[in-house]
Amino acid sequence: MTSTIDRRNFLSKLWKFGFAAIAGAAVWTSWDFLQPTIPIGFGGKVKAGPPDLVPEEGVLLVPAARTYLTRHEGEVVALWSRCPHLGCRLPWCESAGEFECPCHGTTFNRVGEHRAGPAPRGMDRFAVTIEDDNIVIDTAVIISGPRLGSESIDEPSGKPCVAEGH
Ligand code: FES
Repeated sequence: MTSTIDRRNFLSKLWKFGFAAIAGAAVWTSWDFLQPTIPIGFGGKVKAGPPDLVPEEGVLLVPAARTYLTRHEGEVVALWSRCPHLGCRLPWCESAGEFECPCHGTTFNRVGEHRAGPAPRGMDRFAVTIEDDNIVIDTAVIISGPRLGSESIDEPSGKPCVAEGH
């Protein structure tokens, strides 16, 4: 008689333990599934190294963020390497000291302001923060480029990389 009760007791506890384990696993899985995912890489935040890497009068390409970093009035600016006209990739032309769109010939100065061509505004930008001496480019936050005619730096353009006549 005693052994039957002990066995029944043991099985009852075993079942309770089994249900508790399954419920715990279900809660853990649901909690883990519902956590927001933080995108890393393009579409999210990209670390680009210390601010010292950004030249005073040039640009630094950060491929993972599809971004050029440059300086404007002492601040680091992250320029999206996508032309605001029809989306072509914008190469930096070292000899000209400006961005030149190979598709329809829009040019932008070093800080992404429109110089000439059909693009409707300057180069779009991303939000930038400095965290633990690291530049963090938030490619989820797009800031529309400056309007036409707002060129604020006076850096002459040199020899173009793309043939003129677009
Ligand atoms: Fe750049 Fe048209 S896509 S000027």
